[in-house]
Amino acid sequence: MDRVPLFSIKQLSKTFSQGYAALCGVDMDIWAGECLLIAGPNGSGKTALMKIITALDTASSGEVFFEGKPLVQAVNSLRTAVGLVFQDADAQIIGETVAEDAALGPKNLKLPKNIVKERVAAALTAAGLGEKADFPARSLSGGEKRRLAIAGILAMGCQTIIMDEPFANLDWPGVKSVLQIVSALKRDGKTVIILTHELEKTLALAERLVVLCGGKIARDGKPEAVLDALKPEYGIRDPRCSYLTVKDCLWL
Ligand SMILES: Nc1ncnc2c1ncn2[C@@H]1O[C@H](COP(=O)(O)OP(=O)(O)OP(=O)(O)O)[C@@H](O)[C@H]1O
Ligand SMILES: [Mg+2]
Repeated sequence: MDRVPLFSIKQLSKTFSQGYAALCGVDMDIWAGECLLIAGPNGSGKTALMKIITALDTASSGEVFFEGKPLVQAVNSLRTAVGLVFQDADAQIIGETVAEDAALGPKNLKLPKNIVKERVAAALTAAGLGEKADFPARSLSGGEKRRLAIAGILAMGCQTIIMDEPFANLDWPGVKSVLQIVSALKRDGKTVIILTHELEKTLALAERLVVLCGGKIARDGKPEAVLDALKPEYGIRDPRCSYLTVKDCLWL
């Protein structure tokens, strides 16, 4: 029997009320267990795509299937199987303390208290927030809030994790801890979908790179091959170009 894609996206388009077409005929399958990087410049439609495939927004036309079922029929299983780290980390904070916030997802899944506690402790440690478990969540810095959002999703133990700009606001140790988290998720056989324009941070971990440009898929394939085919109009810089001297950084 043929494998069923985790997500099957067919001719997906989204036009906002002002008449702006953010997505135009996107066609792609996302497979369980893959580490997929969706890259594209600001406004290319990454977040719009993520919101539609996770049923947080509706498409203007086209269809999305989750595990072979139309999205409307699959919303309940999608909510338990797929964890989202939003681009806007502030909007994801609901709990009073850091630990309470990270516990909201697993509590919603009706997991036993002791399991929730264990998972929250492990997730906060993985995200480098172990010491801040009792801090007021709102008092965290921008980068710490992003790590908290990631910890909350980790604690849910979802099979699929979608991270929208997970590196925004992160310092280098923060970037490293997110990369370690992504590596561990991959080792556990989870599906990881990362939406970013900071290609260089995750490229080494991704098996597939999709380039979105103006709401359309410009390229889709193995990272090396996609990078070899980059065009200036995609608005993406090939991260394999190195900066050898400080002067080389003046490429603008
Ligand atoms: N609610 C909305 N109403 C009108 N236009 C919108 C709305 N949401 C998004 N857009 C437009 O759709 C386009 C795609 O937005 P989207 O947020 O998906 O971009 P993105 O690729 O995630 O960009 P970034 O890298 O900045 O996060 C943008 O030009 C944006 O202005
Ligand atoms: Mg976005």
